[in-house]
This record gives sequence, C-alpha cells and structure tokens, in this order.
Amino acid sequence: MEKLTREQIIENEHNDFIQVYTRLPIVIDRGEGMRVWDKNGRVYLDFLGGIAVDVLGHSHPKIIEAITNQAKRYLHTSNYLYQDIQIEFAKKLKEISGFDQIFLSNSGAESIEGTIKLVRKWGFLNNKKEIVSFTGSFHGRTYGALSMMDKPIYKANFGPFLDGFKIINYNSISDLESTINENTSGVFLEFLQGEGGIVSANPEFIQKLFELKNKYNFLIIADEIQAGMGRTGKFFAFEHYGIEPDIATVSKGLGGGLPLGAILIRNYLSNVLQKSEHGSTFGGNPLACATGLASLVEIENHLMQNAQIQGEYFLEKLQEIAQSFPKLISDVRGKGLMIGLQLTFPAKDLVSRLLDYGIISNATNQNVLRIVPPLIITKQDIDEFSTALFKSLKTLE
Ligand SMILES: Cc1ncc(COP(=O)(O)O)c(C=O)c1O
Repeated sequence: MEKLTREQIIENEHNDFIQVYTRLPIVIDRGEGMRVWDKNGRVYLDFLGGIAVDVLGHSHPKIIEAITNQAKRYLHTSNYLYQDIQIEFAKKLKEISGFDQIFLSNSGAESIEGTIKLVRKWGFLNNKKEIVSFTGSFHGRTYGALSMMDKPIYKANFGPFLDGFKIINYNSISDLESTINENTSGVFLEFLQGEGGIVSANPEFIQKLFELKNKYNFLIIADEIQAGMGRTGKFFAFEHYGIEPDIATVSKGLGGGLPLGAILIRNYLSNVLQKSEHGSTFGGNPLACATGLASLVEIENHLMQNAQIQGEYFLEKLQEIAQSFPKLISDVRGKGLMIGLQLTFPAKDLVSRLLDYGIISNATNQNVLRIVPPLIITKQDIDEFSTALFKSLKTLE
C-alpha cells in the first residue's frame, strides 16, 4: 500500500472514523522510553503515557521480548483451554496485590461491568439492592459504568441508565451517612480520582465509609484502573489509607501496553460468580498476560519506588513554578506520578503551548493539566518538563 503523508493521515482520520476523539496534531512514527517521534522526525517527551498505560515507556526491551516469546508459541486460544501464561501472570498479580482470586478482561470498563454483576449477585444473595458511587468519578463508557457517574458530558442524551444506583458527593461524610444503609450492596470509588481532576479522598471520609461498612455489611470496590499499578508509589492508591477494600478493578498499565483488565477479589467472594455467569472471549489474552507479567516484574523491582521518588521531586518542582504564576495555577496536587495542576484557565491552552516545546500532556475536567507519565521517568525528564512549563506559562501570563 502507498505510504500516506502526515496530512493525508489526518484527513483520512477525519473521514474514516466516527469523530469522538480530539487528537493532538501529532502523527506518531515510533516511540522509545519516554520519547515519541512524529512522521517529520520531531521528538516529544511523553507525559501522557497512553493515558497512564505505558508504565514502562515505549518499546521497552522486556516487553518486546515477552511479545516475541509468546507470539512464537501462540496468540489466542480461548478460555476453554488451560494456559500456563495466565497462571504465571495471576500468581504475580496476586503476590503483588494481596488479593486472592482474579478474573481477566480486556479493559477498564469491562472490569467495572463484571464487578457490577458480581456486586449485584452478592447483593441478591444478601438481600441488598443498591450500589453507591460518587460525583467526579470516572468508571468507563459502558452502561453500568455510566450509571455510576454524574458528569453530563459523558451521559447527556444516552439514558435511560440502569436502576439501583445512587451517586452522592465525593468526600461528603453527611452524604455517606444519609445514603448508606442495610440495602447498600456495594460502594465504588477511586481513592484518587483521575478524570475527575486528580482529587484524593479525604482520610476522614474513608474512615467513615469503613465504619459504615462494619455497621451495614456491604462491599467496597476500589477502582484502581488509573491510580493503580504502582503509579502513586504504592501498588494501589488505597494503600495510602491503611484499609483493605473487598474488590479492586485494574486495567490501563496492567498489560504493559496491551489491552488487559482484571477484577481482584478476596477469597470470601470466590463463590459469588458461578460457571457461565460471566466470561470474555479475549479476556486474559496470552500476549497481554505475557507483557503484563514482564511489566509487573519491573514495577515490583524498581518502578513503584521510582514513582514515589520522582513524584516527590516533580511535586516540589511544580510547587516552585506555581509560586511564580499565582494567577495561572491555583493548586498542585496528586501522589507519585499522578499529578494535577489546577489552572485558572482551560488546560487545553496549556497543553497546546507545551506541545510547542515538545511535551505531550493532557487536560482533564476543563481546568486541570493531568500528568501521568511512564514510571521509568528520570529527574532530567522532569527538569525538561519544568523548563517547558515555565516557558509556556510565561507566554500565557
Ligand atoms: C478510574 C477509571 N476507571 C475506569 C476507566 C475505564 O477504562 P477503559 O477506558 O479501559 O474502559 C478509566 C479510564 O480512564 C478510569 O480512569
């Protein structure tokens, strides 16, 4: 096939695809480590990391090795056959996460959907019918996930949604007290909200949630799809609170760059879903399990620690910069390598300025610049970002 130019690729994308994405004006050619190159040979530092997916950066040798080895054996069979690579991956995931059993899917939303089914079935067995979730949360684009979310931008004109959900204010203890009762089957939450603008749960709020759990007996589900996989300096964001949820959902970085998601449960939930009650054709794809395993080993060995160290350095740098631009930056927050800059203007304007300086970044929740780079990041990368940020903000002052 004839090679398309950069302009032709952009034009074709506009014609050939349903226009749901707002893409940056970069036509990627290749990536390596923290960097990607476009078709014109221009290099960019990647602080978006495939939206918190590329934990090992681009084209990591361990990922290439895992793909090559697995591809030589087989690419897909089905979950009707036993697969050694799934078992090896599961063992590692259980060891790092401390959970007892897993179900493998292909994505975040698919993990959320399976979990809603599990929670509803548990609720059916325990005569509890209501699921509680929070404002500002993001759980995916499918109907179950949307039923737990409040933002009109994701929901307008798509109703009706599923019954049996109550969405209450994040970090509101009084909402918890007035909503949760013996009819509550599960509470879904991100301990560090991503799409919602990098917002943490308050420790007192989490304490109250667990007090109510003791009183009413319901399941707590940590959506760790964005904040998990070592990004915050611990494997899960919930670990910063010293509590243990009943279920965690993970995806994004789980497959080391390939599509993979998981539902992680404690052993007392292992009999809730029975044979044929759930499944997925591609879930636990062997290639994704192989890259996921390679990625978990790196995360455990040094990347989780790197996320913590570089995250602290990054936050310090950003706080310094924020002091120079009090009219433009109103807050710097986050944990590890999941950082948000609360701006006083649309974050997309800063994203495009940063791009001029060769930095790929992302806007979320209108005025928040979201920074979720690969966990392999170095001090030098952060310094490069900081210089570009300073220059960009100068032009916007
Ligand atoms: C916390 C959280 N949950 C769920 C999802 C949905 O994941 P996916 O896009 O893989 O369906 C996302 C995606 O951004 C997320 O950040």
